[in-house]
Amino acid sequence: MLKTPISAQMWRLCSLLLLLSFTILPCWCRMEPLPTEDPCDKPDCYHRPETDCPAATDICRCKVDAICKTAVICCDVDASGLSDGLACANVNRINISSIHIRNATLSTLNLSDYTTWRGLVSMAFTDGNITNIVGKFVKFASTSCLNFSSNGINRIEDRALANLYNLRELDLSNNNLTDVPHFKKEGIVSLDISDNKPMLCTSLNDTIRRSDIQFNNRNRTWCLSSKTFDWFNSTELVPLEQIERVNELRKDCTINCTCQPLRFDIVPGKSPIINVYVSCTSQHLTELPSPLPPNTKALNVSFNNITSLQPVSKDPSYQSLSELYADHNEITSILPLEGSKFITNFVALSLSHNKLEKIETYVLTNIFDRNYNSRRVNLGHNKLLCDCNTAKVLKVWLMTKQKHIPDYDQIDCENMDMKVSDLDPSKLCQSQHDWTDYIYYIIATEVLLLVFLIAKVSYDYWIFKTAGYLPWPASKMPKLPCDWLCE
Ligand SMILES: *[C@@H]1O[C@H](CO)[C@@H](O)[C@H](O)[C@H]1NC(C)=O
Ligand SMILES: *[C@@H]1O[C@H](CO)[C@@H](O)[C@H](O)[C@H]1NC(C)=O
Ligand SMILES: *[C@@H]1O[C@H](CO)[C@@H](O)[C@H](O)[C@H]1NC(C)=O
Ligand SMILES: *[C@@H]1O[C@H](CO)[C@@H](O)[C@H](O)[C@H]1NC(C)=O
Ligand SMILES: *[C@@H]1O[C@H](CO)[C@@H](O)[C@H](O)[C@H]1NC(C)=O
Ligand SMILES: *[C@@H]1O[C@H](CO)[C@@H](O)[C@H](O)[C@H]1NC(C)=O
Ligand SMILES: *[C@@H]1O[C@H](CO)[C@@H](O)[C@H](O)[C@H]1NC(C)=O
Ligand SMILES: *[C@@H]1O[C@H](CO)[C@@H](O)[C@H](O)[C@H]1NC(C)=O
Ligand SMILES: *[C@@H]1O[C@H](CO)[C@@H](O)[C@H](O)[C@H]1NC(C)=O
Ligand SMILES: *[C@@H]1O[C@H](CO)[C@@H](O)[C@H](O)[C@H]1NC(C)=O
Ligand SMILES: *[C@@H]1O[C@H](CO)[C@@H](O)[C@H](O)[C@H]1NC(C)=O
Ligand SMILES: *[C@@H]1O[C@H](CO)[C@@H](O)[C@H](O)[C@H]1NC(C)=O
Repeated sequence: MLKTPISAQMWRLCSLLLLLSFTILPCWCRMEPLPTEDPCDKPDCYHRPETDCPAATDICRCKVDAICKTAVICCDVDASGLSDGLACANVNRINISSIHIRNATLSTLNLSDYTTWRGLVSMAFTDGNITNIVGKFVKFASTSCLNFSSNGINRIEDRALANLYNLRELDLSNNNLTDVPHFKKEGIVSLDISDNKPMLCTSLNDTIRRSDIQFNNRNRTWCLSSKTFDWFNSTELVPLEQIERVNELRKDCTINCTCQPLRFDIVPGKSPIINVYVSCTSQHLTELPSPLPPNTKALNVSFNNITSLQPVSKDPSYQSLSELYADHNEITSILPLEGSKFITNFVALSLSHNKLEKIETYVLTNIFDRNYNSRRVNLGHNKLLCDCNTAKVLKVWLMTKQKHIPDYDQIDCENMDMKVSDLDPSKLCQSQHDWTDYIYYIIATEVLLLVFLIAKVSYDYWIFKTAGYLPWPASKMPKLPCDWLCE
C-alpha cells in the first residue's frame, strides 16, 4: 500500500518532464530562426521580396512593414505614385530607418529629396527602371546600405554618394554604369558592381587600388577594356580577377624593371595565363636581370652594359622567354645560346649595337626553317673581325637569311672600314692566295737546297774514299772541336 503513492509521484514527475520536453524545448528551438525572419534585426540592408509588396488591388502602393515598424516598402511606383504612397501609408520621415522601393519607374532619382529622412540607415531602390541618380545626401548621413540593383541606371552624379561616411554596403549590380561612382575614401565597403556591361576597366582598376573594398559577386564582375587600357582586346569583357592579377604582376616585378601583360593565353577550364613583357632598359645593368617573373615571354634590356647571354640558357626563370631585345649592350658572343630552350623556341632576338666579333652561324643555322617564318634576328652595327672566311661564308649566309635578318647589310668590320655585305671575297681571299704561293716557293727552295747538300756530301765522301782527298770547300774548313767524333 505504501508503494503506490511513490510510483504515482514518480509517474507524475515523469509526465511533467515529458510535458516540459514537448512544450518548452520546441519553443527554444523555434526561437533560433525567428530573429533572422525579423527584418529589423538586420537593419543594415533592408530588402523584402516581391511577395511582401502591398496587394495589387491596394491603391496605396506603400506600407509600413508589418513586423518592423520603422521600415517601409513600396512597389510599382512612378515619381508621383511614390510621394502619394508615402503619404497614404502615413510614413513619418523622422523615425523611418529603412526603405525598400521595388519597381520604381523614375527618369531621375534625386537623392537631395531624401535629406529630411534623417534616420535612414538603409535605402533600396531595386528591380525598377531608373535612368539617372542626381543630388546628394546630407553630410554625415547615417545611411550605411544602399541598394540600387537592377534598375538600368546609366549615370550616377559624381558627388552623389560622397557624403556617406557610414556607408558599408553598396549594391549597384545589374545596371548600365560605365564607372564606379565616388564614395567615401577609406573604411571597409562591400561593393557589388557585377553585371554592368559598359563598366570601363580604367574605373574598375582605380577601385581595385583600394584594399578595403570587398567585391561581392566577383564572378560576375567584369569590365570593358578600351583603347586606353592597352593590353586587352577592345571589345573584350575582362573579369575582375584578371585586372587584379595584372596589378599584382606590376607590384612583383624584377627590381628596376617594369612588367606588363603581353597577352592572355586562354586555356578553356583554366584561369588564363598572363604572358609578361619585362622592360629593364637604360639601367646600367652589367648582366641580364634575374629572376624574371613567371611566364615572362618578352624581355627588353636595351641600352645597358650587359656582356653575356649566359643566363638565357642557364637561368630557369628564362625558360618561357621567346623575345629578347638586347640592343646597345656589350655582348661579345652568341655562343651561350647554343642548344638553349630559347634558341629552339624564340620569335625575336635583337642584338644590334653590341660587341660581337664573330657570328657563329652554326648556332643560328637550323632555326630558320619553314616552321619559323616569322623569326627575326637583328645583328646590325656589330663590328666583326673580317677575313676571307667572313667574305666567303658569312656574307653569303647573311644574304640567304635576309628575310630573317632584316639588318643583314648593317654589320660592320672591326679591322677594315667596310660592311660585311660589301666585302669582296676575290680581293680579301686573293691576297691570301699570293701569300700561300710564296710559302710554297720557300719550301721548294729549301727542298732543293737540302737535295744539293746531300748530293755534295755524298760526292765529297766518294772522292775521299776513291782519291783520298777532300774537295773544296771541305778541305779548307778548319778543324772543329766536334770533329774527333768522326775520327
Ligand atoms: C514615429 O513618430 C511618430 C510621431 O513622431 C509616432 O507617432 C510613431 O509612433 C513613431 N513610430 C515609431 C515606430 O517609433
Ligand atoms: C512595374 O510597375 C509598372 C507600373 O509603374 C507596372 O506596369 C509593371 O507591370 C511593373 N512591373 C513588374 C515586373 O511588376
Ligand atoms: C535635386 O533636388 C534639389 C532639392 O530638392 C534641387 O535643388 C536640385 O536642383 C535637384 N536636382 C536635379 C538635377 O533635379
Ligand atoms: C524604362 O522607362 C523608359 C521610359 O521611362 C522606357 O522607355 C523603357 O522601355 C523602360 N525600360 C524598361 C526596361 O522597362
Ligand atoms: C539588392 O537588391 C537585389 C535585387 O533585388 C538583391 O538581389 C540583392 O541581394 C540586394 N543587395 C543587398 C546587399 O541586399
Ligand atoms: C546603356 O548605356 C549606353 C551608353 O552608356 C546606352 O547606349 C545604352 O542604350 C544603355 N542601355 C540601356 C538598356 O539603358
Ligand atoms: C591600374 O592601376 C595601377 C595602380 O593600382 C596602375 O599602376 C596602372 O597603371 C593602372 N592601369 C591602367 C591601364 O590604367
Ligand atoms: C566563382 O568562380 C570560382 C572558379 O570559377 C568558383 O570556384 C566559385 O565557386 C565561384 N563563386 C561563385 C559565388 O559562383
Ligand atoms: C583579340 O582577341 C582575338 C581572340 O582572342 C585575337 O584573335 C585577336 O588577335 C585579338 N586582337 C588584338 C588586337 O589583340
Ligand atoms: C636600381 O636602380 C637604382 C637607381 O638607378 C640603383 O641605385 C640600384 O642599384 C638599382 N638596383 C638594381 C638591383 O639594379
Ligand atoms: C626596347 O626598349 C627600347 C628603349 O626603351 C625601345 O626603343 C625599343 O623599342 C624596345 N623594343 C621593343 C621591341 O619593345
Ligand atoms: C655603360 O655603357 C655606357 C655607354 O654605353 C658607358 O658610358 C658607361 O660607362 C658604361 N658603364 C659601365 C659600368 O660599364
